[in-house]
Amino acid sequence: MTTTAPEEKNMDELVALCKRRGFVYPASEIYGGLRGFWDYGPLGTALKNNIRDWWWRCMVDCPPIGPDGEPVSIVGLDSAIIQNPKTWEHSGHVGGFNDPLVDCTETKKRYRADHVIIWVNEAGDGPHLAFMENEEPNERRVRKFYKETPDLKPVSFMDITDEQRANAVGPDAAKPGSLTEPRTFNLMLDTYPGPIRDEDAKAYLRPETAQGIFLNFKNVLDTMRVKVPFGIAQIGKSFRNEVTPRNFIFRSREFEQMEMEFFCPPDESQKWYEFWRDERFKWWLSLGVDEKNLILRDHDDDELAHYSSACVDVEYKYPFTAPGYGELEGVAHRGNYDLTAHSKSKEKNRDSNAKLDYFDQELQVRLQNEGVDKAEIKERSRYVPHVIEPASGLTRAVLVVLCEAFTPTPDRDGSKYILSFKPKFAPIKAGIFPLVNKDGMPEVAQKLYMQLRDRWPVEYDGKQSIGKRYARMDEIGTPFCFTIDGDTLTDQTVTVRDRDTLAQERIHLDKVEAFLAEKLAE
Ligand code: GAP
Repeated sequence: MTTTAPEEKNMDELVALCKRRGFVYPASEIYGGLRGFWDYGPLGTALKNNIRDWWWRCMVDCPPIGPDGEPVSIVGLDSAIIQNPKTWEHSGHVGGFNDPLVDCTETKKRYRADHVIIWVNEAGDGPHLAFMENEEPNERRVRKFYKETPDLKPVSFMDITDEQRANAVGPDAAKPGSLTEPRTFNLMLDTYPGPIRDEDAKAYLRPETAQGIFLNFKNVLDTMRVKVPFGIAQIGKSFRNEVTPRNFIFRSREFEQMEMEFFCPPDESQKWYEFWRDERFKWWLSLGVDEKNLILRDHDDDELAHYSSACVDVEYKYPFTAPGYGELEGVAHRGNYDLTAHSKSKEKNRDSNAKLDYFDQELQVRLQNEGVDKAEIKERSRYVPHVIEPASGLTRAVLVVLCEAFTPTPDRDGSKYILSFKPKFAPIKAGIFPLVNKDGMPEVAQKLYMQLRDRWPVEYDGKQSIGKRYARMDEIGTPFCFTIDGDTLTDQTVTVRDRDTLAQERIHLDKVEAFLAEKLAE
């Protein structure tokens, strides 16, 4: 893919290209849009489906080889978006899925308190400016405010004293003292299935696909020939009432997730945690993402979600975070938190009617052979599996692939930018052009198009000049263009043009299909 550094890519230009070329549109645009919602256009849908299908292929159809040398076992699922609301009470989302918020009484703006940074002097007193994390402090504002600049240090809004808060000037405000104390806010969007709209009828649009998997653990165990360790994978929409949706599709209120819950014996959980951390990092490289733009980052204890005892994020250097990184996927050790929370228990006031544990017959036999005593075998062979969860965003993956592929090409004739997708993920795999619309060229080009479209999404284009046709294909990320010209009619060869290098070579018409098959398999 591209060699342009993320710092040199301009998000506004990428967003404009995505709109102009049919990748991503603002949702309900003709009514002024709706903050945090996006529509995927024809090419964006194709790109998203290609990434989705690759994830499914690598997780469900052909999962990796495990640490013991055997392929791991993973099955797929497609659960309902709306589940019984008790799901979210017991999962901890009703009580725990909250973001701290701060309001600005001067500008009426609202911010995630943990994303606000203030700059204080050594003594920590006096007036201070607040900025959003990841936003460059505006130099003029800083100079005007502090006059001569003392040594300033950044402090999270979550850690400041009441006095410092009273002295802080909000990110968009002019005077100090307008920021409120942080308050919590539940991120789940609710809805009311059925005819009655009262509290008892309230249900939630899922904020993660994971819970549908936990609710079906027993169903899958009882109906499929699976044994622990095994995984259940799911791709689908999730909804979060994000306080500050921003950075294009990075943080939206409706998005798609690709999640897999891997159920394993408790004493093997560390081994599987490390296995999935490494596998998932490799998977992002397989999308064509440059390794220097990816990192693994362990969560600090105070960052961990309510269900997790350890988590490592795969992070990407987005143009808007560079030179820093932003989250792409989390690999979490969820322990037995969720299966326990959804298991029947009168004493613990749980509403579920099922016990979500597992009888490990192989372990029982092993312990018997080792001569372990009966009571211990009974206790150790039945357990609540531990869960390792690689959880990523499909729509965030689309953003990463777009950012990575986006390449300014100021010196090129025609296109100012190209999308340099790895061929496998390009929405259109090849353009097929007659050089001119006469002399039998359209007929040969049409025949080639009909042959290739049986196997891949390809486009026939006979309109405009050849330069404009190439430029359009470059902008939408089509890796190869085949042009039928005068020579084709005599020697049956066509020109193949490479999107990234602009190199052209002639190959025989009979070889086009094999050429493309080889390039798309890489
Ligand atoms: N089941 C665990 C879970 O949902 P998460 O870190 O909250 O964990 C997993 O979400 C992934 O989903 C994130 O790494 C990110 O890629 C994606 N994601 C989360 N919130 C998102 C949002 N508001 N917009 C787009 N993608 C989001």
